[in-house]
Amino acid sequence: MLGMSLAEGSDGQSGTSTTLKDWKEKEGCPGSSLLKDLIPLGTEESAMEVVLKKIRELSDLDHRDPFMVADLGVLASHHQAFCQALPRVSPFYAVKCNSSPWVLRVLAALGTGFDCASQVELEQVLSLGVAPSRIIYAHPCKPISHLQYAARHGVQLLTFDSEEELTKVAQHHPGARLVLRLWTEDSKSLIRMSTKFGASLELCGHLLKSARDLGLPVVGASFHVGSGCQDPHSFTQAIADCRRVFEMGRGVGHDMSLLDIGGGFPGVEGSEPEFEEMARVINAALAQDFPEGAGIEVIAEPGRFYAASVCVAAVNIIAKKAVLQPGGHRKLLYYLNDGHYGTFRVFFRDRFPRMPIVVKEFCSKPPLFPCTLYGPTCDAFDRLFNEEVQLPELDVGDWLIFPSMGAYSSVMSSTFNGFLPASICYIVGPELRSLLQTMP
Ligand SMILES: Cc1ncc(COP(=O)(O)O)c(C=O)c1O
Repeated sequence: MLGMSLAEGSDGQSGTSTTLKDWKEKEGCPGSSLLKDLIPLGTEESAMEVVLKKIRELSDLDHRDPFMVADLGVLASHHQAFCQALPRVSPFYAVKCNSSPWVLRVLAALGTGFDCASQVELEQVLSLGVAPSRIIYAHPCKPISHLQYAARHGVQLLTFDSEEELTKVAQHHPGARLVLRLWTEDSKSLIRMSTKFGASLELCGHLLKSARDLGLPVVGASFHVGSGCQDPHSFTQAIADCRRVFEMGRGVGHDMSLLDIGGGFPGVEGSEPEFEEMARVINAALAQDFPEGAGIEVIAEPGRFYAASVCVAAVNIIAKKAVLQPGGHRKLLYYLNDGHYGTFRVFFRDRFPRMPIVVKEFCSKPPLFPCTLYGPTCDAFDRLFNEEVQLPELDVGDWLIFPSMGAYSSVMSSTFNGFLPASICYIVGPELRSLLQTMP
């Protein structure tokens, strides 16, 4: 039953693929926010079971386009875990990580704030009825037109890290409340940002004075330790640096009251370090530098932590080559119907390949071969990993499943070479469904 609804995401005919028209309709579909678009999750049913069911049904129809199943319930459980582990910190979800309308809608219903980085992200969040005060426009280098949009729509909280940005803000958004983004040490993070953003501590005094002279209030400081941060002590140093910036700000007359500790929290269980350990380090640093009762509001901009384990991706082998290597060893090249220009661009940043689950039954433990996993386009760069991975002999039409594909995946998909992004179906349990029913 579930799978049948999912298969209807295509044109409903056996053996046909999603067309550009189907995809565009689904993407911009005005009805996409209706509850009927959600697939109810049966009691005791898991997202993985839904994926396997869909694979069986699509294979029976001889229809094997790539797809993702997004379990929106994961957002609620991760929200609860975040608030429990970091009780002083209000999450402002980083929209860039996964901007699916359903993800945003669920988070709005759960009451998170939002970190937006562009006009479109602001529009998306505001259109859900989220108050502008629950949004931080956390991009230190903003296009003027986007800045003007924020001003027109009452989004006041903005980050900056340069004098040039201050000049722009003074001219185009004089009612802004500014947050100074600091440089942080992020060499141990998967996605580094400090080469591009963040003011050094030495520059902060000057920037704070310039803001004051331009009549712009600086209300706090922010940082980002890099996405996929592997050293929780990066937070300790950055929080201590923010304390110094608070002192400098107060020294020149700013009313500093907002600390934004950014993102960088792990997305999947078993990450090193674990989220709970990171939270303990952060809580200790907050207690040390920003003790409770001093009237400081603390926010964070988690993306990966909320979104990563929401989605499971399923891809199909569309072509295969067996190559004999020197010494007579067999190597297999598998060509998948989703790749670097689709869901998997984020793999390029990972330290190690993420091994897929092979959906095939073998009578006994199959031998493994070195395999290269290519995406579907004509570009040789379009492969999932630089390294070879060890997989059994598979055939055209076989499926691979990649769990934890909700962060920085579909948001980075393109239609390069005419390969459409994987379709996504959303599943939801009864509790969350009732919560969503209360939304306008
Ligand atoms: C300013 C800002 N905040 C938050 C995030 C989210 O980071 P993460 O997904 O690591 O939590 C990013 C990611 O690029 C970012 O640039």
